[in-house]
Amino acid sequence: ALVSKGNHRHFMQKEIFEQPVVVSQTLGRYLDPIGTQVTLPKLPFDLKSVTKITLVACGTSYYAASVARYWIEKYARTPVEVDIASEFRYRDPIYAENGLCIFISQSGETADTLAALRHAKEAGQHTAAIVNVTESTMAREADIILPTYAGTEIGVASTKAFTCQLAVLAAFSVAMGVAKGLISSDTEKTLVKELEHLPAQMSTVLATEENIKAIAAEIADARDILFVGRGIHFPIAMEGALKLKEISYIHAEGYAAGELKHGPIALIDENVPVIGIAPSDGLLDKSVSNLQEIMARKGRVVLFSDHLKSLPQADLAGSFSMPSAGDLTSPILYALPVQLLAYYTALEKGTDVDQPRNLAKSVTVE
Ligand code: G6P
Repeated sequence: ALVSKGNHRHFMQKEIFEQPVVVSQTLGRYLDPIGTQVTLPKLPFDLKSVTKITLVACGTSYYAASVARYWIEKYARTPVEVDIASEFRYRDPIYAENGLCIFISQSGETADTLAALRHAKEAGQHTAAIVNVTESTMAREADIILPTYAGTEIGVASTKAFTCQLAVLAAFSVAMGVAKGLISSDTEKTLVKELEHLPAQMSTVLATEENIKAIAAEIADARDILFVGRGIHFPIAMEGALKLKEISYIHAEGYAAGELKHGPIALIDENVPVIGIAPSDGLLDKSVSNLQEIMARKGRVVLFSDHLKSLPQADLAGSFSMPSAGDLTSPILYALPVQLLAYYTALEKGTDVDQPRNLAKSVTVE
């Protein structure tokens, strides 16, 4: 089917702005219509008896896996292993009896992820594929498919497929917690409400995109940029760095804020912007103190937070105000400003946003 850009300048821009709709569409398949329960497709095994979850993917899909680790640990209290497919397939991974391996892939065709799926299947693991293309090889070969309903994604740098993967993984994590008897029906209802509220919150964030343009102008000349986050937002920092390097060709790294002092802080001077992803979860104070250390070394800190007051505005190189959210939706919300920042920085640089050099939409050869 032919997909058009509509009123948008690039597919990536169109896909960023489609996210409230496609995430809502995706959630609609995993939440019951009365909005009180999560629902999964019928599984050929008992979720309650799954002893370990292994999440394997490449690129942006790997960062969705990295976020999900926190949810599954918290809500389903089950051991989680996360790996990049090209590493996983050549390791000698330890599979658990009654383990479930989940492969996350927009295309369902990425060569390394597919090879990892076959490896796990041969080892007798339960396998699930979170794919956007339901006619794909992974969809055919996995025991079960948990589809994302993002619609065709054309931009090489993944955006809407990522947030839809996160929506599925959030619902899955809650469903597993319920299956294990760890989540009461009241708590389930609260979590479902949080998820149902997400698309509207995403629209609110996207409506303030103007504020990202000034930040993009501020960082476009930098040679190196750091993204830092803690906890469940650490993978979002890595995704922010990946998006930026993919389409603006600026060298960027995503780091755990607490790890800065173990190396990256040596890079900091007045030329290095640091994007701090610091929501007011239990880790805000820790992140703020890491950002203060950067500022003391003249680093240009840009703050993304629902609590911008935690650093003096005058000392910041930029800031972006976020709504407050629970941990089931917060990383999905913070994905938006990091996508927009990459997009507008690429516009500043005049790069080819939808077809960045050397990159392919789907990497079907090793
Ligand atoms: C390529 C794309 C990325 C994508 C990755 C994994 O590198 O450019 O945007 O995240 O492949 O693709 P998949 O289809 O497996 O999610």
